[in-house]
Amino acid sequence: MTGESVTDSRPRVAVVSAMHEELRALLPLLERSSELVMGGRRCHVGEIAGQAVVLALSGIGKVAAATTATVLATRFALTAMVLTGVAGGLAEGVQVGDVVVADTLLQHDLDASPLFPRYVVPGTGRSHFQADVSLTESLALAAQRQLTSPHSPWAAALHEALPQAHASVRRGLVVSGDRFVSTSAESRALQRALPEALAVEMEGAALAQVCSDFAVPFAVLRIISDRADDAAHVDFTRFIDEVASACTRAIVHDWLMARSHTS
Ligand code: ADE
Repeated sequence: MTGESVTDSRPRVAVVSAMHEELRALLPLLERSSELVMGGRRCHVGEIAGQAVVLALSGIGKVAAATTATVLATRFALTAMVLTGVAGGLAEGVQVGDVVVADTLLQHDLDASPLFPRYVVPGTGRSHFQADVSLTESLALAAQRQLTSPHSPWAAALHEALPQAHASVRRGLVVSGDRFVSTSAESRALQRALPEALAVEMEGAALAQVCSDFAVPFAVLRIISDRADDAAHVDFTRFIDEVASACTRAIVHDWLMARSHTS
């Protein structure tokens, strides 16, 4: 496939990675692969566990994620879009190593008040974008299976990096903004403003808005890499290197295998 080819009409699932490390971990699973480039996005097309997929990098931040989601939604006949990556834990008890699967997403840095209520995306009347219920459920189940499997490479990597961790899978609100939240003061301010938010990251709500515009069912899965506090930058880097990629690969593979059994 080349950058000039027409829209690919085979129904497929898009798996969007927030970071290079995660995409690199998924690429060896891809069979019958080809590539196309559009808008600077390299789309890796192929099959995993018999499922037609396209893998791409979201890039960091809301605009980058929105561009990637738009390229994928317009170029492919998508049945689903899944975003994976890491996030900072916000709500009490959301610890490094936990998995958060978003039920809803919101842009925490969007403020067009007094013209529109705080967080509302002008033109949509909405602040919260709901992820697809069945995709979210199946991803959370895959995460739970991998977390509890004695054979999971992720569980082993997590235990090695964080021997005390008792990771769990949680579902709820994930908030996105164009800031890496790395002070306790900012984290507390976010918690006060949005007490129900489980985690903060930089892409999910943007991808959610694009998927909603194009009527593509979507889900967002995040591994908690830090507590969005003064130690966030140190924890983040260590976690990406040691755990996050193994985790994403295990969950995405499990999820696609389960999907191939039901389709
Ligand atoms: N992704 C991972 N950790 C994050 C943080 N603390 N703030 C924003 N995005 C993140």
